[in-house]
Amino acid sequence: MKGVVLAGGTGSRLFPLTKVTNKHLLPVFNKPMIYYPIQTLVDAGFTEILLVTGGKNAGEFLRLLGNGKEFGLHHMNYTYQEREGGIAEALGLAEHFADGQPICVVLGDNLIEYNIRQAAESFKRQGKGARVILKKVPDAQRFGVAEVRGEQVIRIEEKPQVPKSDYAVIGIYFYDGSVFEKIRKLKPSGRGELEITDVNNDYIEEGTLTYEILEGWWTDAGTFESLLRANNFVAQTGANKPTS
Ligand code: DAU
Repeated sequence: MKGVVLAGGTGSRLFPLTKVTNKHLLPVFNKPMIYYPIQTLVDAGFTEILLVTGGKNAGEFLRLLGNGKEFGLHHMNYTYQEREGGIAEALGLAEHFADGQPICVVLGDNLIEYNIRQAAESFKRQGKGARVILKKVPDAQRFGVAEVRGEQVIRIEEKPQVPKSDYAVIGIYFYDGSVFEKIRKLKPSGRGELEITDVNNDYIEEGTLTYEILEGWWTDAGTFESLLRANNFVAQTGANKPTS
């Protein structure tokens, strides 16, 4: 399985912090934000990683990360998203890299407390379809929200005004090789983006989406409040720790 980190987008919710740099290069405690999703993949055993980025400062990622030596990697793959067309559009750029294999996708502004090695193992055993990770949150309307019935997610709604549950779909997803066909069929949403939630709902309709609940803390870092929270979590407890 290969890993993909999505770090395109304009980071407009963090303006003016993002006026002269990319959101994912901002500090989270003692490291640039982008270090955390890369470490998430490395700690789960991924050695082949693609970074999708965009905007005016894309070159800075190469200067910062090089071949990924700091993470124990021999090579880093990069690609460029030309406009902010949405998470699913950014993922579509990974098709050539994935080369038909299953992938784990991590959003560049998502940080977690514990490693996801077991989730990756579960998805390998699953063999096909998709797997998402859910976390109970107090502000579900900010996220993709899962309606869960027993062992099944029956629908995911993107930023609903009245969430049907407290379960946010976090920005770590496992997909089989059919994800790119699904992305090709997507139509832009009301906000003009190709939505990852539509991809996940396609898997739900196919009956091949599974889920698990995340242990430990999770946060995005794309708003002032969540960026502060990410800093505090990392400073207080650390990120990407082993589960046992
Ligand atoms: O954080 C988890 C949430 O992330 C999920 O619960 C939502 O279902 C999902 O849509 C997403 O919501 P956001 O609206 O918070 O996503 P945002 O636009 O902030 O994008 C998250 C990351 O995805 C961003 O840090 C970089 C990457 N991205 C985003 C866009 C729009 C791209 O690479 N390209 C893009 O065009």
